[in-house]
Amino acid sequence: MKALTIAVDGYASCGKSTLSKDLASALGYRYIDSGAMYRAVTWYLLQHRLEAEEGENLQRALSDIAIDFVTQSGETVLLLNGKEPGLALRSKEVNSMVSPVSALHSVRQTMVQRQREFATQAGLTMDGRDIGTYVFPNAELKIFMQSRPEVRAARRLAELQNAGDTKWTVEEVLVNLRERDEMDSNRDFAPLRRAHDAIDLDNSDMNREEQLAWAMDLAIARGAQQP
Ligand code: CDP
Repeated sequence: MKALTIAVDGYASCGKSTLSKDLASALGYRYIDSGAMYRAVTWYLLQHRLEAEEGENLQRALSDIAIDFVTQSGETVLLLNGKEPGLALRSKEVNSMVSPVSALHSVRQTMVQRQREFATQAGLTMDGRDIGTYVFPNAELKIFMQSRPEVRAARRLAELQNAGDTKWTVEEVLVNLRERDEMDSNRDFAPLRRAHDAIDLDNSDMNREEQLAWAMDLAIARGAQQP
């Protein structure tokens, strides 16, 4: 029995974080949302009116940004310099700028280094775009997720509305998902790719319990132990 590193990658709004969180809580592992880290950097740049470009300002910003994940009432919450940005990470402004920001080499290098530091503790699920290909190429279990675009847009819209953000139409959500997928897949450094040894999951017609049961079978087959 071992504590695994589980990498969950895939397209925007496929339910990667839902599956990763559910797996972490079923296995007693730590969960890290790498996308939230890129969103936090983007939000910080927006707040400080900094451009998404390499240079001294970006270097200074990256060294001023501290990101932590803490557990509050059973939920994993990101803290940026000790404060919880919460819903701001999902704002329209952040959604429009996050892909260009996360394509910047120095942003990726800094975030990947911090993501690897989180793995010193055994038993981790991390979701993102390059976790199985670049951050943890030796992860014992890699899952590559996709679902139909209209399903993804409807899920993201419901998530935003439940959180009180009613500014989006379903068409706008769909456009944003497509634009991010395009940019994330075509950047030169650590693009969104399926790792050659990843297992595919299309969860368009699966509910939360079904996708968790599917992934738990794989984790157990690879030696994970339920707490
Ligand atoms: O939740 P959703 O799938 O819409 O996005 P996310 O996982 O929060 O990621 C937001 C953005 O961060 C992505 O569109 C990528 O541009 C970037 N990202 C990345 O470059 N590498 C990762 N490992 C995770 C996210």
